[in-house]
Amino acid sequence: MCGIVGFTNRKIQAAPVLLEGLSRLEYRGYDSAGIAVRDQDKDTVVVRAKGRLKILEEKTNSGLSVPGTCGIGHTRWATHGEPSETNAHPHVTEDMNVVGVHNGIIENFSELKDKLEKNGYTFYSQTDTEVAVKLVDYYYKKYQGGPIDALAKTMVRVRGSYALAIMFKDYPGEIYVARKDSPMIVGLGEDEAYVASDVPAILKYTRTVYYVENLEMARLEPGKATFYDLNGDEVKKDTVQIEWDAESAEKGGFEHFMMKEIHEQPVAIRDTMNSVLTPDGHIDLSSTGLTEEQIRNFKNVTIVACGSAWHVGMASQYVFEDLVRMPVRVELASEFRYRNPILGEGDLVIIISQSGETADSLAALREAKDLGATTLGIVNVVGSSIAREADHVFYTLAGPEIAVATTKAYSAQLIAMDILAMEFAYLRGKMDEKKLLCMTAEMRTLPDKIQQLIEDKERIQWFASKFANAQDVFFIGRGLDYAICLEGSLKMKEISYIHSEAYAAGELKHGTISLIEDGILVIGVMTQNDLYEKTLSNMVEVKSRGAYLAGITNYGHYEIEDTVNFNVYIPKTDPHFSATLAVIPLQLTGYYLAVARGLDVDKPRNLAKSVTVE
Ligand code: F6R
Repeated sequence: MCGIVGFTNRKIQAAPVLLEGLSRLEYRGYDSAGIAVRDQDKDTVVVRAKGRLKILEEKTNSGLSVPGTCGIGHTRWATHGEPSETNAHPHVTEDMNVVGVHNGIIENFSELKDKLEKNGYTFYSQTDTEVAVKLVDYYYKKYQGGPIDALAKTMVRVRGSYALAIMFKDYPGEIYVARKDSPMIVGLGEDEAYVASDVPAILKYTRTVYYVENLEMARLEPGKATFYDLNGDEVKKDTVQIEWDAESAEKGGFEHFMMKEIHEQPVAIRDTMNSVLTPDGHIDLSSTGLTEEQIRNFKNVTIVACGSAWHVGMASQYVFEDLVRMPVRVELASEFRYRNPILGEGDLVIIISQSGETADSLAALREAKDLGATTLGIVNVVGSSIAREADHVFYTLAGPEIAVATTKAYSAQLIAMDILAMEFAYLRGKMDEKKLLCMTAEMRTLPDKIQQLIEDKERIQWFASKFANAQDVFFIGRGLDYAICLEGSLKMKEISYIHSEAYAAGELKHGTISLIEDGILVIGVMTQNDLYEKTLSNMVEVKSRGAYLAGITNYGHYEIEDTVNFNVYIPKTDPHFSATLAVIPLQLTGYYLAVARGLDVDKPRNLAKSVTVE
């Protein structure tokens, strides 16, 4: 995810401090970086570079070639526009009146861009940030109320999430910040002030910080920070002392990146859905380049992916076929590429990949294109190979994932696929407008429901601690629940190294049930009401052979407590969305088992985050 650092003082050169701060944010992932530094009243100098921070350091002679005691810096993880020097922050107005960096996503940026274009502004980048910077400039010049007034007016117009750090030409030595739903802290030192998106960026210099609250602004001067609310009234607040060490600061106070990323899921799916849901509850896929006509005319859908992304495909198959009533195949990329697939015009091939670099998925994409199919990438990393080569791209906005075991990218992929299915169903006349609006409204409630499930994590920790020595675990479910079991089982084996298998509950009797013996843990996922009783019967069968049962089902099925030894209730939702909720306790179970076994949760043995070889 993008990172912000800002620094102002009267003596020390700002650029080396900014570069040092940005280097502390490298772990978060980025694809370009930049700094803007101002030497007293002189013009601000901006240096940007695509790629590693090292390139920016080389370009600026480790910051020494950019003199000045006040500046802002940024590491960018692309969301709007490919990773490039032009799209890298800081962004500026033509006259350098306003220079700014931004984390987050401005949802209504194209509407704001139109407004600014009508007022004579032109744009050099594809970013939403350039729009935000120029909007601040517009209000600053139009109303002449000063930086805080211009920022407040911008905040009222902008929809989305943001942490903004801005320098104004008329205010040398000062940095202005504003925030909504994107973290931001202000730090103080002797005659120094800092701003950062994350604690590690400034921990080397100060531990005395203020947390900038939602919809708050601040003015930073050397040794001083003043806070304002949206009305421009001053807000009094106290400093906080940061006690964390640098490593725990990187993890935002969580013990592992995986746990941090589990907690980031509400934001990941909210950002992903907000990128294509319109305020009136419709879906706008124009950013993917897919036209309504194309969507109406596809004959078949083939989903190709690896690992957890393939599990997303498995779940989506149920949703797609049920809602759209068109045939969907799901293929493992490593198999698909070698089995001479039958594809051609009229076929849509969807490649799901967090990294966008998985070798088998990339090869499958090329194969599908060669055969004449239309290709759509569901990709998290902007500018990755799959994103560049696919005919169309739907970006998941999960931000960088650091833990090897995917959690938030998986959830964002599920949401993206649900949205695709809903829009296909609507445009192909299989879903009326009322149903569409009802489903998008329900979808918007999912982040809060996920949050609710995460908050109950201590119960899962207790449950997992009982099975730290388990040898084998089975996951069973039917329909969409089976697809969720596949992911739950993979999460468990990849990080806790406990052998586990996911079985379609009805298949148990055809062989696997012979493995059930006293004390074996069987986790049943039963969120599909029409299949609930059938899977419950399968649970009873394994219980009578000695299994210890854990059940995941919807609130309301309280009688399950008579059958299972441990249960988790899932908030009620549309059954097509239940995978998004049911996977949370499964991720937590895998996580807590690995912790209980003292394993390296974030870097499991033999695994790589991006599998760029066959
Ligand atoms: C498991 C996991 C992997 C990936 C798979 C595909 O937790 O992360 O199974 O899902 O390697 O990777 P991407 O999505 O990058 O193509």
